[in-house]
Amino acid sequence: MLQHWLLDPQAVYLNHGTFGVTPRRVLDLQHAMHVQIERHPARFMARELMSLAPEPPEHPPRLRAAAGEVAAFLGARGNDVVFVDNASSGVNAVLRSLRLSAGDEIVLFDHAYGAVARTAAFVAREHGARVVTVPLPFPLENEATCLALLDAALTPRTRIAILDHVTSETALVLPLARMAALCHARGVPVLADGAHAPGAIEVDIPSLGVDWYAANLHKWAFAPRGCGMLWAAPDRREGLHPPIISWGLDVGWHQEFDWTGTRDPTPFLCAPAGIAFITDLLGAAAMRAYNHALAWQAAEMLSARWGLPWQTPDSMVGCMVTVPLPQQLGTTAADAWKLREWLLHERDIEVAVVARSERLWARVSAQVYNDMSDIERLGDAIAQAVSPPC
Ligand SMILES: Cc1ncc(COP(=O)(O)O)c(C=O)c1O
Repeated sequence: MLQHWLLDPQAVYLNHGTFGVTPRRVLDLQHAMHVQIERHPARFMARELMSLAPEPPEHPPRLRAAAGEVAAFLGARGNDVVFVDNASSGVNAVLRSLRLSAGDEIVLFDHAYGAVARTAAFVAREHGARVVTVPLPFPLENEATCLALLDAALTPRTRIAILDHVTSETALVLPLARMAALCHARGVPVLADGAHAPGAIEVDIPSLGVDWYAANLHKWAFAPRGCGMLWAAPDRREGLHPPIISWGLDVGWHQEFDWTGTRDPTPFLCAPAGIAFITDLLGAAAMRAYNHALAWQAAEMLSARWGLPWQTPDSMVGCMVTVPLPQQLGTTAADAWKLREWLLHERDIEVAVVARSERLWARVSAQVYNDMSDIERLGDAIAQAVSPPC
């Protein structure tokens, strides 16, 4: 499968999750689209790309048509989806549109992505509100623990819960629909962070019962880098603004998000091609199944190799696993970075290494261009890092 990407065939790339890897076919289309834009930029950008008119034009502009295809992939309606540059932009839009008061609370788990936690902290401090960070054990052996801890953290002052669909460092698929139901029963709206979800796990946004869903399409859905999306329930769009205010202010939800100043629209317009790539290569279900099986096998093989327990339930694993590494490799973020750099520079292996719960962990991404030989190379390299040859 490697031939479908520009990846260096000598390298072992086990980090699809961090920035995604764009298939050749999608890059080719993006290049062709750049050429098309440059033939007449003003026609493309001002006439074909989007419309700032309050009423939808007879023929949907290109951005709206692309949003419709992305929405269909995620079980949603095109009208309910807008493009954003990345998941960070979607999260910023929602959090920075909140009208918080002093003493209000924003709830999230300590597995939340660092940039998202910082955005929550920024917004809270602007309003004299506070962030309630709920510690979630890792390894996490069941979904019930996560639901119980969330329930215990909600108070009458909770104004929003920010919940991951798939956590970043720990690679856990969280029970988002059940968490959202729990929050709603307590009157708390939910912002879902689905940065790692589209393409990696099955996503049907409306059935999750969340209020907002921010995600990346440039990771597991193969859009060119710089392609995120935001879904908002119809009753959550009033007062919701993108992080950049531009010409669409107060015109409508699409108009505000579709134009946030001049930028390269090709990542958004190529998002349907990323989805078509999944369908044509294997089909979404078969691709997810291959990646899940490889991730699971990687976790079993690597943890057995070090005699360390692998405790994550199958239902909480998507296309990535975060597996324990031997204790001798250290415990700190500096140790994690040192090992990651050694793996890259000395063994040509790219994998995320994180420090958590008093040890190091490797977060292994499984993508169809990987197979068990990549995992074995990682295992051998770790063995050499533990006992360097004399
Ligand atoms: C869970 C999660 N949320 C948000 C983000 C932010 O994504 P981006 O940097 O594309 O905005 C990431 C990035 O990896 C992530 O893992």
